[in-house]
Amino acid sequence: MENLLANQVALVTGASSGIGYGVAKALAKAGAAVALNYHSHPESAEQLADEIEKNGGSSFAVRADVSDPSQVEKMFDACRARFDTVDIVVANSGLQKDSAFGDMTLEDWQTVLATNLTGQFLTTQAAVKEFRRRGQRNNSRALGKIICMSSVHEVIPWAGHVNYAASKCGIQMFMKSLAQEVAPEGIRVNSIAPGAIRTPINKDAWNTEAALKKLLRLIPYGRVGEVEDIGEAAVWLASDESDYVVGTTLFVDGGMTLYPGFADNG
Ligand code: BGC
Repeated sequence: MENLLANQVALVTGASSGIGYGVAKALAKAGAAVALNYHSHPESAEQLADEIEKNGGSSFAVRADVSDPSQVEKMFDACRARFDTVDIVVANSGLQKDSAFGDMTLEDWQTVLATNLTGQFLTTQAAVKEFRRRGQRNNSRALGKIICMSSVHEVIPWAGHVNYAASKCGIQMFMKSLAQEVAPEGIRVNSIAPGAIRTPINKDAWNTEAALKKLLRLIPYGRVGEVEDIGEAAVWLASDESDYVVGTTLFVDGGMTLYPGFADNG
């Protein structure tokens, strides 16, 4: 995948850890200049930007709370100041605030929706405006590419996580409706729906032998995913190799959405 994204600029939100970190690294490896958005962990975003620059790439870290319109605007201003524009936007920032339904506070509901759903609305709206402003470039067949970070929970119900599942299910129809609206202009919008990927967000599900054994029952392919699995998918979806892929959710989940509980039941 070397140089598949040469001469292109990417912005990844939530790039200071987990899937965002892995996606940013993969896009840089594929030749893109990468703006790394973070919210509360400048150290790891700056460390990754340094690493990318040391390897001959271009990168910088930019702080923004993606649920705040003025901060999102400033993040895009920073991309324009450093790289003139942006070609690929990965709306990845996401969080979980889990609790049993009866105990879920309004604050936990709103915090999750604000980042996971409103954050993607603000980020992708700014992206669409930027693609329109600068017009077609000669580095890709598309005017611009947007990747929304969804989850297997856009289709799999998840007790104890109604805020998170509602946000990801929201992303499914948000992404498709947006894709339908902007495809005529040459903007490709798609989602990646990761399954269980080994990151801090789900540490409790894989960091003991017992938890891991239980988790693996949900994954037909028999292993927990790594951020590189999502990074490779993002490179492909951002590149012209997937130029005819529009409005699709790419599940990268080791088969989690195959409902393995039915393999010997039902
Ligand atoms: C969640 C993880 C979970 C995975 C599979 C992801 O969207 O963030 O916590 O392990 O879905 O259930």
